[in-house]
Amino acid sequence: MSVSNSLFSRALQKESLKTPPIWFMRQAGRYMPEYRAIRSKFNSFLDMCKNPDVCCELALQPINAFNLDAAILFSDILTIPDALGLGVRFVENEGPVFKNPINNSKDIDKLNLFNPDDLKYVYQAVTNIRNSLPGNIPLIGFSGSPWTLAAYSIEGRSSRDFKKTINFIKTNNDKSHSFLNVLTDACFLYLREQVKAGADVIQIFDSWANILNKNDLNEFSMQYICRLTHALKNDKVTCETPIILFSRDPKCSNSTLINDSGADCISLYWNMKDFDLNLARNKVALQGNLDPRILLKSKDEIKFQTKIILDKFKDYPGYIFNLGHGITPDINPDNIKYLTEIVREY
Ligand code: CP3
Repeated sequence: MSVSNSLFSRALQKESLKTPPIWFMRQAGRYMPEYRAIRSKFNSFLDMCKNPDVCCELALQPINAFNLDAAILFSDILTIPDALGLGVRFVENEGPVFKNPINNSKDIDKLNLFNPDDLKYVYQAVTNIRNSLPGNIPLIGFSGSPWTLAAYSIEGRSSRDFKKTINFIKTNNDKSHSFLNVLTDACFLYLREQVKAGADVIQIFDSWANILNKNDLNEFSMQYICRLTHALKNDKVTCETPIILFSRDPKCSNSTLINDSGADCISLYWNMKDFDLNLARNKVALQGNLDPRILLKSKDEIKFQTKIILDKFKDYPGYIFNLGHGITPDINPDNIKYLTEIVREY
Protein backbone atom coordinates (compact mmCIF):
# COMPACT_ATOMS: atom_id res chain seq x y z
CA MET A 1 0.00 0.00 0.00
CA SER A 2 1.20 3.52 -0.79
CA VAL A 3 0.60 6.86 0.90
CA SER A 4 -2.05 7.79 -1.69
CA ASN A 5 -4.33 4.88 -0.81
CA SER A 6 -3.63 4.95 2.92
CA LEU A 7 -6.59 5.32 5.30
CA PHE A 8 -5.46 8.85 6.19
CA SER A 9 -5.22 10.01 2.55
CA ARG A 10 -8.59 8.47 1.74
CA ALA A 11 -10.20 10.33 4.64
CA LEU A 12 -8.56 13.56 3.43
CA GLN A 13 -10.15 12.88 0.03
CA LYS A 14 -13.52 12.83 1.86
CA GLU A 15 -14.15 9.11 1.48
CA SER A 16 -16.61 7.43 3.83
CA LEU A 17 -14.69 4.86 5.86
CA LYS A 18 -15.84 2.22 8.30
CA THR A 19 -12.93 2.91 10.67
CA PRO A 20 -11.43 6.41 10.77
CA PRO A 21 -7.66 6.86 10.57
CA ILE A 22 -6.12 7.84 13.92
CA TRP A 23 -3.33 10.18 14.91
CA PHE A 24 -2.91 12.65 17.77
CA MET A 25 -1.74 16.22 18.02
CA ARG A 26 1.41 16.18 20.20
CA GLN A 27 1.62 12.42 19.79
CA ALA A 28 5.36 12.66 20.49
CA GLY A 29 6.05 14.34 23.81
CA ARG A 30 6.68 14.24 27.51
CA TYR A 31 3.79 11.90 28.32
CA MET A 32 5.88 9.09 26.76
CA PRO A 33 8.72 7.61 28.85
CA GLU A 34 10.63 6.94 25.60
CA TYR A 35 10.49 10.68 24.82
CA ARG A 36 11.63 11.70 28.30
CA ALA A 37 14.62 9.34 28.04
CA ILE A 38 15.89 11.15 24.93
CA ARG A 39 14.86 14.63 26.12
CA SER A 40 16.94 14.21 29.28
CA LYS A 41 20.10 14.08 27.15
CA PHE A 42 19.55 17.67 25.93
CA ASN A 43 19.57 20.88 27.95
CA SER A 44 17.81 22.81 25.26
CA PHE A 45 14.62 21.69 23.49
CA LEU A 46 15.55 23.67 20.37
CA ASP A 47 19.00 22.01 20.24
CA MET A 48 17.17 18.69 20.24
CA CYS A 49 14.97 19.93 17.36
CA LYS A 50 18.15 20.82 15.44
CA ASN A 51 19.28 17.17 15.42
CA PRO A 52 17.53 15.44 12.46
CA ASP A 53 18.39 11.90 13.60
CA VAL A 54 16.89 12.51 17.03
CA CYS A 55 13.80 14.15 15.49
CA CYS A 56 13.38 11.06 13.33
CA GLU A 57 13.55 8.76 16.33
CA LEU A 58 11.05 10.91 18.27
CA ALA A 59 8.55 11.08 15.40
CA LEU A 60 8.58 7.29 15.12
CA GLN A 61 8.07 6.62 18.85
CA PRO A 62 4.25 7.03 18.85
CA ILE A 63 3.92 5.16 15.54
CA ASN A 64 5.71 2.19 17.05
CA ALA A 65 3.94 2.40 20.41
CA PHE A 66 0.35 2.84 19.15
CA ASN A 67 0.35 1.78 15.49
CA LEU A 68 -1.09 5.14 14.36
CA ASP A 69 -2.21 6.00 10.81
CA ALA A 70 -0.08 9.13 10.33
CA ALA A 71 3.23 10.50 11.59
CA ILE A 72 3.97 14.17 12.27
CA LEU A 73 7.32 15.85 11.84
CA PHE A 74 9.06 16.29 15.18
CA SER A 75 9.91 19.99 15.45
CA ASP A 76 8.17 23.12 16.72
CA ILE A 77 6.23 26.03 15.22
CA LEU A 78 8.74 28.53 16.66
CA THR A 79 11.59 27.56 14.30
CA ILE A 80 10.58 30.46 12.00
CA PRO A 81 10.77 33.22 14.67
CA ASP A 82 14.10 31.68 15.71
CA ALA A 83 15.38 31.96 12.12
CA LEU A 84 14.19 35.60 11.99
CA GLY A 85 16.63 36.33 14.83
CA LEU A 86 14.19 36.60 17.75
CA GLY A 87 16.24 34.27 19.98
CA VAL A 88 13.78 31.53 21.00
CA ARG A 89 14.41 29.43 24.13
CA PHE A 90 12.14 26.95 25.90
CA VAL A 91 12.16 27.28 29.66
CA GLU A 92 10.95 24.43 31.85
CA ASN A 93 7.44 25.08 33.25
CA GLU A 94 7.27 28.39 31.36
CA GLY A 95 7.32 27.42 27.70
CA PRO A 96 8.88 29.59 25.00
CA VAL A 97 10.75 32.77 26.00
CA PHE A 98 12.09 35.18 23.35
CA LYS A 99 15.38 37.01 23.88
CA ASN A 100 14.51 39.70 21.31
CA PRO A 101 10.72 40.00 21.12
CA ILE A 102 9.08 42.65 18.93
CA ASN A 103 8.66 45.67 21.22
CA ASN A 104 8.10 48.45 18.70
CA SER A 105 7.67 48.98 14.98
CA LYS A 106 11.43 49.48 14.47
CA ASP A 107 12.05 45.92 15.66
CA ILE A 108 10.06 44.75 12.64
CA ASP A 109 12.37 46.69 10.27
CA LYS A 110 15.39 45.09 11.95
CA LEU A 111 14.28 41.47 11.42
CA ASN A 112 16.56 39.12 9.52
CA LEU A 113 15.33 38.36 6.01
CA PHE A 114 13.80 34.89 6.14
CA ASN A 115 16.18 32.46 4.49
CA PRO A 116 14.53 29.02 4.16
CA ASP A 117 18.03 27.46 4.13
CA ASP A 118 18.42 28.41 7.81
CA LEU A 119 15.92 25.65 8.60
CA LYS A 120 17.67 22.88 6.66
CA TYR A 121 17.77 20.83 9.87
CA VAL A 122 13.94 20.63 9.68
CA TYR A 123 13.89 19.45 6.04
CA GLN A 124 16.57 16.85 6.83
CA ALA A 125 14.38 15.58 9.69
CA VAL A 126 11.45 15.33 7.24
CA THR A 127 13.54 13.27 4.81
CA ASN A 128 14.86 11.00 7.55
CA ILE A 129 11.35 10.39 8.93
CA ARG A 130 9.89 9.76 5.46
CA ASN A 131 12.68 7.26 4.70
CA SER A 132 12.11 5.43 8.00
CA LEU A 133 8.32 5.20 7.86
CA PRO A 134 6.41 2.34 6.26
CA GLY A 135 5.23 3.35 2.77
CA ASN A 136 1.58 3.45 3.79
CA ILE A 137 1.98 5.90 6.69
CA PRO A 138 1.70 9.53 5.57
CA LEU A 139 3.96 12.16 7.10
CA ILE A 140 2.48 15.49 8.19
CA GLY A 141 4.67 18.59 7.92
CA PHE A 142 3.53 21.74 9.71
CA SER A 143 3.91 25.40 10.47
CA GLY A 144 2.26 27.87 12.81
CA SER A 145 -0.18 30.31 11.21
CA PRO A 146 1.25 33.77 10.52
CA TRP A 147 -0.92 35.20 13.31
CA THR A 148 0.13 32.62 15.92
CA LEU A 149 3.80 33.19 15.07
CA ALA A 150 3.28 36.98 15.28
CA ALA A 151 1.55 36.65 18.66
CA TYR A 152 4.48 34.71 20.19
CA SER A 153 7.02 37.06 18.59
CA ILE A 154 5.37 40.20 19.98
CA GLU A 155 4.33 38.81 23.38
CA GLY A 156 7.75 37.16 23.77
CA ARG A 157 6.26 34.24 25.71
CA SER A 158 3.05 32.28 26.30
CA SER A 159 0.29 34.26 27.92
CA ARG A 160 -3.39 33.82 28.72
CA ASP A 161 -4.63 37.07 27.18
CA PHE A 162 -1.68 38.27 24.99
CA LYS A 163 -2.31 41.85 26.20
CA LYS A 164 0.97 43.22 24.81
CA THR A 165 0.22 41.69 21.40
CA ILE A 166 -3.35 43.01 21.23
CA ASN A 167 -2.15 46.46 22.27
CA PHE A 168 0.66 46.31 19.66
CA ILE A 169 -1.64 45.45 16.72
CA LYS A 170 -4.07 48.20 17.77
CA THR A 171 -1.37 50.89 17.88
CA ASN A 172 0.82 49.67 14.97
CA ASN A 173 -1.71 48.54 12.38
CA ASP A 174 0.43 49.00 9.23
CA LYS A 175 3.58 47.50 10.73
CA SER A 176 1.61 44.55 12.11
CA HIS A 177 0.39 43.84 8.60
CA SER A 178 3.88 44.08 7.15
CA PHE A 179 5.08 41.62 9.82
CA LEU A 180 2.19 39.24 9.02
CA ASN A 181 3.13 39.45 5.34
CA VAL A 182 6.76 38.56 6.14
CA LEU A 183 5.54 35.58 8.20
CA THR A 184 3.12 34.43 5.47
CA ASP A 185 5.93 34.39 2.89
CA ALA A 186 8.17 32.55 5.36
CA CYS A 187 5.49 29.92 6.12
CA PHE A 188 4.97 29.34 2.40
CA LEU A 189 8.67 28.82 1.67
CA TYR A 190 9.10 26.70 4.80
CA LEU A 191 6.17 24.39 4.00
CA ARG A 192 7.24 24.14 0.37
CA GLU A 193 10.69 22.92 1.48
CA GLN A 194 9.05 20.39 3.83
CA VAL A 195 6.99 19.02 0.93
CA LYS A 196 10.09 18.85 -1.27
CA ALA A 197 11.82 16.93 1.52
CA GLY A 198 9.02 14.35 1.77
CA ALA A 199 6.02 15.69 3.73
CA ASP A 200 2.77 14.23 2.34
CA VAL A 201 0.29 16.49 4.15
CA ILE A 202 0.52 19.96 5.73
CA GLN A 203 -1.07 21.13 8.97
CA ILE A 204 -1.29 24.82 9.89
CA PHE A 205 -1.65 25.55 13.63
CA ASP A 206 -3.57 28.72 14.46
CA SER A 207 -3.25 28.04 18.17
CA TRP A 208 -3.93 31.65 19.22
CA ALA A 209 -6.94 32.30 16.97
CA ASN A 210 -9.03 32.30 20.16
CA ILE A 211 -7.72 35.65 21.46
CA LEU A 212 -9.12 37.63 18.49
CA ASN A 213 -12.69 38.88 18.11
CA LYS A 214 -14.51 38.20 14.84
CA ASN A 215 -13.30 41.31 12.99
CA ASP A 216 -9.73 41.06 14.22
CA LEU A 217 -9.61 37.35 13.43
CA ASN A 218 -10.42 38.08 9.83
CA GLU A 219 -8.07 41.05 9.60
CA PHE A 220 -5.06 39.57 11.41
CA SER A 221 -5.35 35.83 10.96
CA MET A 222 -7.78 34.36 8.40
CA GLN A 223 -6.70 36.77 5.69
CA TYR A 224 -3.12 35.49 5.95
CA ILE A 225 -4.12 31.84 6.26
CA CYS A 226 -6.08 32.29 3.00
CA ARG A 227 -3.08 33.89 1.32
CA LEU A 228 -0.89 30.99 2.52
CA THR A 229 -3.27 28.21 1.40
CA HIS A 230 -3.77 29.90 -1.98
CA ALA A 231 -0.01 30.24 -2.50
CA LEU A 232 0.39 26.53 -1.66
CA LYS A 233 -2.46 25.49 -3.99
CA ASN A 234 -0.93 27.54 -6.82
CA ASP A 235 2.60 26.20 -6.52
CA LYS A 236 3.86 23.28 -8.63
CA VAL A 237 5.49 21.59 -5.64
CA THR A 238 2.61 21.89 -3.15
CA CYS A 239 -0.58 22.07 -5.27
CA GLU A 240 -1.47 18.41 -4.62
CA THR A 241 -0.61 18.41 -0.90
CA PRO A 242 -3.69 18.30 1.37
CA ILE A 243 -3.86 21.10 3.95
CA ILE A 244 -5.32 20.68 7.44
CA LEU A 245 -6.19 23.80 9.42
CA PHE A 246 -6.30 23.68 13.22
CA SER A 247 -7.80 26.90 14.48
CA ARG A 248 -8.30 27.08 18.23
CA ASP A 249 -11.85 28.16 19.08
CA PRO A 250 -12.04 30.77 16.27
CA LYS A 251 -14.74 33.46 16.52
CA CYS A 252 -15.65 33.17 12.84
CA SER A 253 -18.55 31.44 11.10
CA ASN A 254 -18.37 27.78 10.17
CA SER A 255 -18.74 28.88 6.56
CA THR A 256 -15.53 30.96 6.73
CA LEU A 257 -13.55 27.89 7.82
CA ILE A 258 -15.26 25.55 5.36
CA ASN A 259 -15.59 27.73 2.27
CA ASP A 260 -12.98 30.46 2.57
CA SER A 261 -9.93 29.12 4.42
CA GLY A 262 -8.63 27.13 1.46
CA ALA A 263 -8.04 24.09 3.73
CA ASP A 264 -8.97 20.55 2.69
CA CYS A 265 -9.60 19.50 6.27
CA ILE A 266 -10.68 21.41 9.39
CA SER A 267 -9.29 20.18 12.71
CA LEU A 268 -11.98 20.84 15.32
CA TYR A 269 -11.03 22.19 18.75
CA TRP A 270 -12.69 20.25 21.58
CA ASN A 271 -15.27 22.94 22.37
CA MET A 272 -16.52 23.20 18.75
CA LYS A 273 -19.44 20.89 19.52
CA ASP A 274 -22.00 22.57 17.25
CA PHE A 275 -19.89 22.74 14.10
CA ASP A 276 -22.29 22.40 11.16
CA LEU A 277 -21.57 18.97 9.67
CA ASN A 278 -24.13 19.43 6.89
CA LEU A 279 -22.47 22.62 5.72
CA ALA A 280 -19.06 20.90 5.74
CA ARG A 281 -20.17 17.62 4.08
CA ASN A 282 -18.44 16.93 0.75
CA LYS A 283 -16.54 20.21 1.01
CA VAL A 284 -13.90 19.48 3.66
CA ALA A 285 -12.69 16.51 5.69
CA LEU A 286 -12.93 16.92 9.48
CA GLN A 287 -10.55 15.94 12.25
CA GLY A 288 -10.51 15.83 16.04
CA ASN A 289 -13.07 17.27 18.47
CA LEU A 290 -12.52 14.92 21.49
CA ASP A 291 -11.65 16.80 24.68
CA PRO A 292 -8.08 15.73 25.61
CA ARG A 293 -8.91 15.99 29.34
CA ILE A 294 -11.15 12.92 28.92
CA LEU A 295 -7.89 10.97 28.84
CA LEU A 296 -7.31 11.83 32.51
CA LYS A 297 -10.53 10.00 33.47
CA SER A 298 -11.49 6.35 33.94
CA LYS A 299 -11.52 3.84 31.08
CA ASP A 300 -15.34 3.74 31.22
CA GLU A 301 -15.54 7.50 30.84
CA ILE A 302 -13.01 7.45 27.98
CA LYS A 303 -15.10 4.82 26.20
CA PHE A 304 -18.35 6.73 26.80
CA GLN A 305 -17.04 10.05 25.48
CA THR A 306 -15.23 8.45 22.52
CA LYS A 307 -18.42 6.71 21.42
CA ILE A 308 -20.24 10.06 21.42
CA ILE A 309 -17.65 11.40 18.96
CA LEU A 310 -17.67 8.24 16.83
CA ASP A 311 -21.49 8.27 16.64
CA LYS A 312 -21.45 11.92 15.70
CA PHE A 313 -19.03 11.45 12.77
CA LYS A 314 -20.14 7.91 11.78
CA ASP A 315 -21.68 8.93 8.45
CA TYR A 316 -19.43 11.91 7.77
CA PRO A 317 -17.41 11.41 4.57
CA GLY A 318 -13.80 12.01 5.60
CA TYR A 319 -13.42 11.98 9.38
CA ILE A 320 -10.00 11.63 10.98
CA PHE A 321 -9.95 10.61 14.63
CA ASN A 322 -7.88 12.97 16.80
CA LEU A 323 -8.17 15.05 19.93
CA GLY A 324 -9.49 18.61 19.98
CA HIS A 325 -6.01 19.79 21.06
CA GLY A 326 -2.66 18.20 21.92
CA ILE A 327 -1.87 15.37 24.33
CA THR A 328 -0.66 16.92 27.60
CA PRO A 329 2.30 15.60 29.65
CA ASP A 330 -0.01 14.34 32.44
CA ILE A 331 -1.79 11.80 30.20
CA ASN A 332 -1.08 8.10 30.77
CA PRO A 333 0.15 6.42 27.53
CA ASP A 334 -1.98 3.35 28.40
CA ASN A 335 -5.05 5.52 27.85
CA ILE A 336 -3.84 6.46 24.36
CA LYS A 337 -3.49 2.76 23.58
CA TYR A 338 -6.94 2.08 25.01
CA LEU A 339 -8.43 4.94 22.99
CA THR A 340 -7.02 3.64 19.69
CA GLU A 341 -8.44 0.18 20.48
CA ILE A 342 -11.93 1.55 21.10
CA VAL A 343 -11.88 3.52 17.86
CA ARG A 344 -10.74 0.52 15.82
CA GLU A 345 -13.22 -1.89 17.46
CA TYR A 346 -16.19 0.46 17.06
O1 CP3 B 1 4.05 14.97 17.97
C1 CP3 B 1 4.10 16.21 17.88
O2 CP3 B 1 3.08 16.89 17.68
C2 CP3 B 1 5.45 16.82 18.06
C3 CP3 B 1 5.80 17.99 17.26
C4 CP3 B 1 5.29 19.33 17.81
C5 CP3 B 1 5.79 20.01 18.97
N1 CP3 B 1 5.19 21.23 19.02
C6 CP3 B 1 6.82 19.51 19.91
C7 CP3 B 1 6.98 20.14 21.22
C8 CP3 B 1 4.31 20.14 17.23
C9 CP3 B 1 3.42 19.83 16.03
C10 CP3 B 1 4.27 21.33 17.99
C11 CP3 B 1 3.41 22.48 17.64
C12 CP3 B 1 3.32 23.62 18.56
N2 CP3 B 1 4.31 24.21 19.29
C13 CP3 B 1 2.14 24.40 18.74
C14 CP3 B 1 0.83 24.16 18.02
C15 CP3 B 1 0.01 23.10 18.66
C16 CP3 B 1 -0.75 23.54 19.88
O3 CP3 B 1 -0.47 22.94 20.94
O4 CP3 B 1 -1.61 24.43 19.79
C17 CP3 B 1 2.44 25.41 19.66
C18 CP3 B 1 1.49 26.46 20.17
C19 CP3 B 1 3.83 25.29 19.99
C20 CP3 B 1 4.63 26.19 20.88
C21 CP3 B 1 5.20 25.48 22.04
N3 CP3 B 1 6.17 24.49 21.95
C22 CP3 B 1 4.91 25.70 23.40
C23 CP3 B 1 3.89 26.71 23.93
C24 CP3 B 1 5.72 24.82 24.14
C25 CP3 B 1 5.86 24.77 25.63
C26 CP3 B 1 4.70 24.17 26.28
C27 CP3 B 1 4.83 22.69 26.30
O5 CP3 B 1 3.89 21.98 25.94
O6 CP3 B 1 5.92 22.26 26.72
C28 CP3 B 1 6.47 24.05 23.20
C29 CP3 B 1 7.46 22.99 23.52
C30 CP3 B 1 7.29 21.66 22.85
N4 CP3 B 1 7.02 21.48 21.53
C31 CP3 B 1 7.47 20.38 23.45
C32 CP3 B 1 7.28 19.43 22.45
C33 CP3 B 1 7.39 17.94 22.55
C34 CP3 B 1 7.86 20.12 24.90
C35 CP3 B 1 9.24 20.60 25.14
C36 CP3 B 1 10.07 19.77 26.11
O7 CP3 B 1 10.13 18.54 25.99
O8 CP3 B 1 10.74 20.37 26.94
